[in-house]
Amino acid sequence: MSDEPKLVLVSNRGPATFERSEAGELVAKRGGGGLVTALTGLVEHRDALWVASAMSPEDVEASKEHGGRGFDCQVDDITYNVRLVESDPDAYDLFYNQIANPLLWFIQHYLWDLSNAPNIRREDVHAFEDGYRVVNEDMARAVLEEIEDDEDAVVMLHDYHLYTAPRVLRQQRPELTLHHFIHIPWTQPDAWRVLPTAMRAEIYAGLLSNDIIGFHTEAYRRNFALCCRELFDLEVDEDAGTVIFEEREVWIRHYPLPISAKTFARSAQRPGVREHEREILRRRRDYLIVRVDRADLSKNVLRGFEAFDLFLQQHPEFLEKVTFIAQLVPSRQDVPQYADYLKRIDSLVAAVNHRHGTTDWMPIDLKLRENLDEAIASYKHYDLMIVNAVFDGMNLVAKEGPLMNERAGVSLLSENTGAHEELGEYTLSVNPFDIQEQADGIYRALTMSWEERDRRAADLKEALTARDPGDWIDDQLRDIEAKRGGSRTVVET
Ligand code: G6P
Repeated sequence: MSDEPKLVLVSNRGPATFERSEAGELVAKRGGGGLVTALTGLVEHRDALWVASAMSPEDVEASKEHGGRGFDCQVDDITYNVRLVESDPDAYDLFYNQIANPLLWFIQHYLWDLSNAPNIRREDVHAFEDGYRVVNEDMARAVLEEIEDDEDAVVMLHDYHLYTAPRVLRQQRPELTLHHFIHIPWTQPDAWRVLPTAMRAEIYAGLLSNDIIGFHTEAYRRNFALCCRELFDLEVDEDAGTVIFEEREVWIRHYPLPISAKTFARSAQRPGVREHEREILRRRRDYLIVRVDRADLSKNVLRGFEAFDLFLQQHPEFLEKVTFIAQLVPSRQDVPQYADYLKRIDSLVAAVNHRHGTTDWMPIDLKLRENLDEAIASYKHYDLMIVNAVFDGMNLVAKEGPLMNERAGVSLLSENTGAHEELGEYTLSVNPFDIQEQADGIYRALTMSWEERDRRAADLKEALTARDPGDWIDDQLRDIEAKRGGSRTVVET
């Protein structure tokens, strides 16, 4: 038996969502998004129970088959120990579709168009109290049940869905070690002023009930410290990385997430990847541009297509020579802003294809689906990958692409992604709002000498393989141990 403390991960989205097969059986499908990739890297290094929301009726059924408790399930050769927590469907709808996305997500990516939205009314306060708070309590209750007899357990909560749960856990079990990792940006104080005062205070009080709060970058950690000082007048020591809240010292740290070269190398060998590669190679023109994203407003898909359109107008010599594969996974379609965004993507692609396309050349190949094998196949063969997010916590695609690419492909990378803090110098760094700069970046990438491409690609690969998810979790566990032991570590700046 290992003498390591029991590790409990808590997130809204879990590693598996269940679906009914044609034969009527419940089958597990990989959960999408960066958080699942991050925590999958973690569970490959360390045993953990993963507590997540049951997000669909099939998830609820799978959970019920196991008496509502934890069970093992396998997805893509990895075995996870999961517990899926059921909430009242109406409460869950308010939690997910009204508070977490869009309200908090928009605040944390500066997406609100403040002269028009949000208009906060009584319904939103109701959604917070009877939705967000309730689902957080459900999750906290499930965690408490799982660690009932365990004094030593470490609970790691994840992301913006679970800001109020730590307070419930702290009230019930004051001695618990609570760690919270935020996968998205932490914005500056004024962005948070959108929230009604009481809601804002409850969110920060929840989060500050943790022992340690982790971010991807130093900039987000700094913003969080600033928010604590400016919005709540708390005592903050930036050099030491501490905030005093209700007489407890909370540590604030940053741990940039690496991806696993080993896991991706294994995935690249899957027959499904090879099949998609054959198709891509069969259809490729002289140059291939790729983007892979959830169809999220923060990903800045429209400006990416505008830039491509401009590039084709300004450099007609590239007509019929380049294809742009955009693999976009529809996301959060019950939130009107997301459904509308997808429609706008569709019509812009139609317009660009109509403007420049010919009978046998379609400039943008829009693939609206989740397919990891297909994404990996595209990663391998691009000449240019575009990651132009408006703001993004880390952006793992910016790491996965260059790691898998076999053509010394160039990266166009938004300066507002977390990944930019580590990789910016090896990429063509762009301002995501500047469409002309992005169009110029496309031209520069596609006309770059092979020598420069090789050098940049090699530097990117070196930076990407320097650390792996094992280091990420070890750094956090080391701080947890230090915090439990009562020592005071100083943040490296
Ligand atoms: C981002 C968030 C995650 C979330 C993922 C997918 O990566 O940081 O918390 O799980 O997007 O979004 P979804 O709403 O589908 O879980």
